[in-house]
Amino acid sequence: MAAKRIVILISGRGSNMEALLNARLPATIAAVISNRPDAGGLEIARRHGVPASVVDHRQFAGRPEFDAALAAAIDQHAPDLVLLAGFMRVVTHAFVDQYSGRMLNIHPSLLPAFPGLHTHARALAAGVRIHGCTVHFVTSALDQGPIVAQAAVAVQPTDTEEDLAERVLAQEHRIYPQAARWFCEGRLSLSGGARVVIDGVRTSPAPLLSPALDG
Ligand code: GRF
Repeated sequence: MAAKRIVILISGRGSNMEALLNARLPATIAAVISNRPDAGGLEIARRHGVPASVVDHRQFAGRPEFDAALAAAIDQHAPDLVLLAGFMRVVTHAFVDQYSGRMLNIHPSLLPAFPGLHTHARALAAGVRIHGCTVHFVTSALDQGPIVAQAAVAVQPTDTEEDLAERVLAQEHRIYPQAARWFCEGRLSLSGGARVVIDGVRTSPAPLLSPALDG
């Protein structure tokens, strides 16, 4: 089987992108594309020897025009998989359909709780005891779509938004490369466009209780 080709889309600092670059996936990371020229991740990608370019959304009349230009930039690299890694633009249905079953996103909450922005502040305000992150296939509904993997962290009574973000981010850096690896190994797919199938994985037997019951 030929190595899969991956294009990563970013908008900012690019720590998830860097985790993917460091994961030594059985794949070629063909390109990193940012919608923001000032994204810190661009420099990191170049340092890893990955071609990094910008399709600046502000230079287009509207979403359809931007998405068409972005798709053209992506398709130059003929990717098998497109990974959104802190990519902060809402994309059109046409764009999503084009990459159906081969585009993943990482979101900093246990979806379907807290789609959208400011997830850690909202989790704290809601008083949840368990928070986390989700890798999912991208569908046209924002931060929804068939779930591939989730990681949970216990919320501590003293947690600030930053504390929580840091602990969740550490888990993002674990589950996103793993999900990408399953895809590259041909083990991850969407059945009937809706149900995620991962060959040969086990689910964790241990429940996460928060707070612990023996306190
Ligand atoms: C991550 O928390 C990601 O889940 C969210 O935006 C943040 C991006 O961080 N969508 P980075 O650019 O990957 O460091």
